[in-house]
Amino acid sequence: MTAEEVLAQVAAEVQVCSKCDLCKNTTHGVPGEGSPHAEVMLIGEGPGLREDKLGRPFVGPAGHFLDELLAAAGLNRASVFITNVVKHRPPDNRDPLPEEIAACSDYLTRQIAALNPKIIVTLGRFSMARFFPTAKISQIHGKAKLIDGRVVLAMYHPAAALHQQALRQTLLDDFMTAIPAALAEAQRLAAEGTLGAPEDRGKDEPPSPQQLSLFG
Ligand code: URA
Repeated sequence: MTAEEVLAQVAAEVQVCSKCDLCKNTTHGVPGEGSPHAEVMLIGEGPGLREDKLGRPFVGPAGHFLDELLAAAGLNRASVFITNVVKHRPPDNRDPLPEEIAACSDYLTRQIAALNPKIIVTLGRFSMARFFPTAKISQIHGKAKLIDGRVVLAMYHPAAALHQQALRQTLLDDFMTAIPAALAEAQRLAAEGTLGAPEDRGKDEPPSPQQLSLFG
């Protein structure tokens, strides 16, 4: 199947998903959207009120700031793919529960595999935890790491800057400098065959548990 086909299939499954209780009392599933050829994949936490109404990710206040952040990195919505760890809105925007994240995990796994992005940008601690289970966001934000053949960059959640003004500039700086640098490094790794899921790289060895720091 092509990337378009996998993404469309995941989106269709999300719309009728009842793997956990989050689907109850929501208006739309929010599978994610963007280019099937995106080099940059952004993963947030879960849909909010406006996202639930429209069935689209990051279209509320945090989304408006995300648009600004993408522009700072020289990107726009059409060129990236944006999704969340959970695809239905948690009631009252509460944190997603571990069992809800687990129930939704396969959708994200399939989206990542289909897109095969050059870099993955996590937004906030829930998507960060998928790749860096024990990390502290204050310590690793803006630092690209190579994990199982993928360049992953953890960022603060754009909504955090709406509550904490000081984080606004941190996020702008991270997007402006770390994303272009991580993309350039990912291109280099791709050229030498280091990038991609282990099965795509034709390697038999198990993925290294070591996280290779790309930029300190
Ligand atoms: N916050 C998120 O994490 N995701 C969205 O889609 C919107 C707000």
